[in-house]
Amino acid sequence: MRIVLLGGPGSGKGTQAKKLVDKYGIPQISTGDIFRAALKEGTPMGLKAKTYMDKGELVPDDVVVGVVEERLKKPDLDKGFMLDGFPRTLPQAEALDRILGSMSKKVDHAVLVDVPDQELMARLTGRRTCRNSNCGKMYHVMFNPPKKEGVCDACGSELYQRDDDSEATIRERLNVYNAQTAPLIDYYKEKGLLRRVEGVGPIDEIFASIVKILG
Ligand code: AP5
Ligand code: MG
Ligand code: ZN
Repeated sequence: MRIVLLGGPGSGKGTQAKKLVDKYGIPQISTGDIFRAALKEGTPMGLKAKTYMDKGELVPDDVVVGVVEERLKKPDLDKGFMLDGFPRTLPQAEALDRILGSMSKKVDHAVLVDVPDQELMARLTGRRTCRNSNCGKMYHVMFNPPKKEGVCDACGSELYQRDDDSEATIRERLNVYNAQTAPLIDYYKEKGLLRRVEGVGPIDEIFASIVKILG
């Protein structure tokens, strides 16, 4: 099962991906997480990505496509994968089709977690993320608080607030999403792969709608 998760910043792609990993046992590939991990290690790629991420802009296509291509060639993807935050531009979507095609594979479902812009700001300003990169669970101070403030329920690590979750940067990420990523909805619709899911409501209900689609 090869899935692309589409949706604006804060729509819940990461939240749902973690639950899907538990249910289906297929890896989550989040380009944002890959860049944040690279930055933590201080690699040149991580440092380059940060200059874009801090402004809410997209990392250039050639960098992102290179990273994804390398990841898709690893041997743990026999049962499939979930792409979270990739593709984000038409050239990225075309590159994905080309890379998968060269391995005689294709995307099975493009799941759009549909949330209106006005809801996204509140979600992102209150988000907290587990610092342990093997866990990386997301919480929200109001909508999905941890049992103990500032501590991950799943692994006990500290929670932190992402650098790009300031109001000004969120606004720019929303603009970028609408201008550059939203056109992918039509791209996948035309291929008959788009599965739209209502993204407002309890996290478990949204998860149930996605599972219904994936079977
Ligand atoms: P990335 O890390 O992908 O960020 P994003 O797309 O902006 O999405 P988020 O991770 O912010 O949101 P999410 O949908 O995962 O929501 P979450 O589940 O956390 O990218 C960051 C940056 O990296 C980009 O800006 C760009 O610079 C670069 N980049 C990455 N990929 C790239 C690419 N392909 N090309 C170029 N550049 C790239 O949920 C958000 C909050 O809401 C949480 O607090 C959660 O608890 C809460 N929540 C979730 N579901 C619900 C619900 N149903 N009700 C209430 N609250 C909820
Ligand atoms: Mg995410
Ligand atoms: Zn954790």
